[in-house]
Amino acid sequence: MRPSVSAHALRLLSCALLASVLLALALLLPHAAQAGHGHKAADKRGILLVAFGTSVPEAVQAIDALKAEAEAAFPGVPVRLAYSSKIIRDKVARQGIVRPSPAQALADMAAEGFTQVAVQSLHAIPGREFSDITATAEAFQAMPKGIAHVSVGRPLLHSHEDIAKAAEVILAALPRHKKDEAVLLMGHGTDHPANAAYAALQLALWKRDKSVFIATVEGTPGLDEVLPELKRRGVRLAHLVPLMSVAGDHAMNDMAGADADSWASRLRAAGIASRAEMLGLGSRPAVAALWIDHLRDAVKQLPATRKAD
Ligand code: CO
Repeated sequence: MRPSVSAHALRLLSCALLASVLLALALLLPHAAQAGHGHKAADKRGILLVAFGTSVPEAVQAIDALKAEAEAAFPGVPVRLAYSSKIIRDKVARQGIVRPSPAQALADMAAEGFTQVAVQSLHAIPGREFSDITATAEAFQAMPKGIAHVSVGRPLLHSHEDIAKAAEVILAALPRHKKDEAVLLMGHGTDHPANAAYAALQLALWKRDKSVFIATVEGTPGLDEVLPELKRRGVRLAHLVPLMSVAGDHAMNDMAGADADSWASRLRAAGIASRAEMLGLGSRPAVAALWIDHLRDAVKQLPATRKAD
């Protein structure tokens, strides 16, 4: 007896079903066999801290302190350090200390297989050094075989909120000062528009304490703009405090140095005694914690890490 047409069709249908099940299995199973050139490695996350740098050996402790804080905040995540100033990198190289540039540090990390890096600026204001770091980070993300994800953490005085927090923390850390005394913070200063961050911080400080002043070495206001105000108020003693991550060359020479053009000498010539506090902001734990908060924000911007497959 010939099989009926419907029985034949049924057999064809079951063959087709079996074939499609086999095809599905063939597509699903052999991922392990394909591993090799095409496979995705696990993500490797790292942190890069970028300081301006210092050539003063005693000032390095402020940068070391910040690095130790970052390591403690992110256990198991490698923390690297770069100096953004070429002049300082060259100077410390002559002392036998090798510090990479941000680009060199990121190139090294790319070569070591880092796929996610949070770069934290240890600068005070979002000036030229910071915009260079941002451009370098973007370049590494765009570069073939660069680093897939590079986020950048804000410097100390970036947003209005950052400045308000910094004012609060800095005020709490300042030396006690009597009625006829003042505190004079030394900022670096720049011709970059971010110099305005000092004016914003000054306003935030004055909301709580009218006897705390900011002047800058290389920007506005300079000491000549602040000195008349100190005299007008009858200030007898000024506490000099660096508003920089380290108490380096500017603090030692331009602020507290013996030369006639140092702040200490110029104040003395105006009848105001001074007392220098040689401590960088990075050495003050409460201020260091703000930089670490900014690093935490930068790490949060990185995508979830992937395990190898
Ligand atoms: Co300088």
